[in-house]
Amino acid sequence: MQTTLTDNPMVAAEFIRAGEIVAFPTETVYGLGANIFSADAIQKIFTAKGRPTDNPLIAHVSRVEDISRITSKITLAAQKLITAFFPGPLTIVLPKHADVPSVATAGLETIGVRMPRHPLAQKFIAACGVPLVAPSANLSGKPSPTTWQTVAADLTGKIACILQGEQTDVGLESTVVDCTAEIPVVLRAGAITLEQLQEIIPATKFVAHDNNQPARSPGLKYRHYSPQARVVIVPNFNAPAITKLCAYIGLHIPVNASSFARVQICQDVTEYARSLFLFFRECDEAGVQEIFCEAVAESGLGLALMDRIKRAAHR
Ligand code: TXA
Ligand code: MG
Repeated sequence: MQTTLTDNPMVAAEFIRAGEIVAFPTETVYGLGANIFSADAIQKIFTAKGRPTDNPLIAHVSRVEDISRITSKITLAAQKLITAFFPGPLTIVLPKHADVPSVATAGLETIGVRMPRHPLAQKFIAACGVPLVAPSANLSGKPSPTTWQTVAADLTGKIACILQGEQTDVGLESTVVDCTAEIPVVLRAGAITLEQLQEIIPATKFVAHDNNQPARSPGLKYRHYSPQARVVIVPNFNAPAITKLCAYIGLHIPVNASSFARVQICQDVTEYARSLFLFFRECDEAGVQEIFCEAVAESGLGLALMDRIKRAAHR
């Protein structure tokens, strides 16, 4: 299949209307979109990514009014969080509308809904005329793509079109919050922090993922975000002595900086989060064997950043 590259959301939307799948930028990571009401189009996502079919997809809307087309109930908790954080990097899990084919949600009776704040994503989804389901636009098991070039490296020849934007701003996937019950539960940490959610609904809980428990969010049981290189978390910038081709990413210059093949020092946690997945990919291309990641405090955005680093380190 030929993959069209375009920066025009109208051109990209034509492919969705023709039943094809299209990669597009959002503020978190690039997504791979299909018409939510077309089971055939959705099936193409699973094929292109090599994604397990028991992993549900997130629905993307360009207007709050469209949420009622794909959910059967907007709970009070959801209403509050929508008012506070939409559009933005937050996914809210709600009961699914009967019109949404079950392949979209891997058979679940709930659906994750998000309204991206990225202007190009909004224009594109609006031009499609339907909500889109979209997982991250990477091959299953690889780090999520934060540039269109990484999408192209993974999916050229497998999808109809890539809508080209800048490198994504947040760099980590959206916060996922289950709002089907009275008390919201954070299933995946992200750029909308637990602290921000608790400002709106103080009872909001976070369930730290435990690999021995059945996953509440099915995608969490898969190995994610992992580069080929081994990822090692270091508590401070005193990374151990170097024996192989190693790389380092963190907030502080490591003591033995010159012995690393690659070093990326980030100004703050925001820049660290934005850079992480691309750094992983660049290290793999350079044949790096071990990536040392400096640990940060697990509060604010640091909770999401450490979640992704821990998953990458966990084999
Ligand atoms: O930022 C993002 O969320 C990006 C962009 C493209 O919007 N999308 C993304 O999708 O990260 P994906 O498919 O890579 O991750 C979706 C996550 C998975 O962990 C999945 O299990 C969970 O959301 N999820 C989706 N629907 C769910 C549901 N109904 N109940 C519980 N978890 C759900
Ligand atoms: Mg993903």
